[in-house]
Amino acid sequence: MNIIYHYLEETDSTNDRLKVMAESDAVEGTVLSAGRQIAGRGRRGHNWESPAGDSISTSMLLLPTDLTDEDIMILTPMAAVCVSLAIEALYELPTQIKWVNDVLLGGKKVSGILCEQMFQEDGRRAVIIGIGINVHQHAFPIEIADMATSIDAELSERQMPFSGRVARRELTECVWEKFSAIYERQKKDKTVVDEVLEEYRRRLVNIGQRCRVMDPRGEYEGEAVGIDKMGRLVIETGSGERRTIDAGEVSVRGIYGYV
Ligand code: BTN
Repeated sequence: MNIIYHYLEETDSTNDRLKVMAESDAVEGTVLSAGRQIAGRGRRGHNWESPAGDSISTSMLLLPTDLTDEDIMILTPMAAVCVSLAIEALYELPTQIKWVNDVLLGGKKVSGILCEQMFQEDGRRAVIIGIGINVHQHAFPIEIADMATSIDAELSERQMPFSGRVARRELTECVWEKFSAIYERQKKDKTVVDEVLEEYRRRLVNIGQRCRVMDPRGEYEGEAVGIDKMGRLVIETGSGERRTIDAGEVSVRGIYGYV
């Protein structure tokens, strides 16, 4: 895939702007990043804070012709794995993943992913992978202060000997290069999904944890016992029943805190 990078100092949401570009003539591999989003969106209707120059807000357009619905479901875990791999490779910081799409450093969220899909007028499927990464922030809004962190904050917390300022551009490019390499392999080799899920599972903090499933049809508690081959979380309830949940409507909260 040929990655074509675009950058805006400010936009509403890179996902929304890229959608508009996709409706005209943007090709697969088009990436739009912004220094600041004024209407950044998170999952399930949440806002996503992206203050000027302090974080990465970046989105890539995919126009998959040969992927099944199951292959598409794996793109969010794939993006989370690529963010993890890039942070580990560039800064030697160990990452974890909280189902479904939160990348964690030191048990706090450093990155989130919003994957959106649409069908164009000609019937072609377009997928937008939106990634937000906290890079330079040392303080967060009160509502998320206990749950959020940034790469700079973690490096100084651990007194890591990282010289120089974390470069947002280098990290953005590292993430997309890793993502496009795996995505291209996935088109030809269906076993790539297993590799992605293995990397995902190794970092997943939820396994073995008591959690509360915020299902709009009725909340319940259980223990997270695994993920299936589409990246869905498997929960065992008190009665021993196993329920598989997908990312659509539900969120998972630890009983004793964020993770
Ligand atoms: C989440 O954790 O809820 C997902 C956050 C996704 C944020 C990114 S920033 C780039 C892209 N543009 C958006 O408006 N959202 C995503």
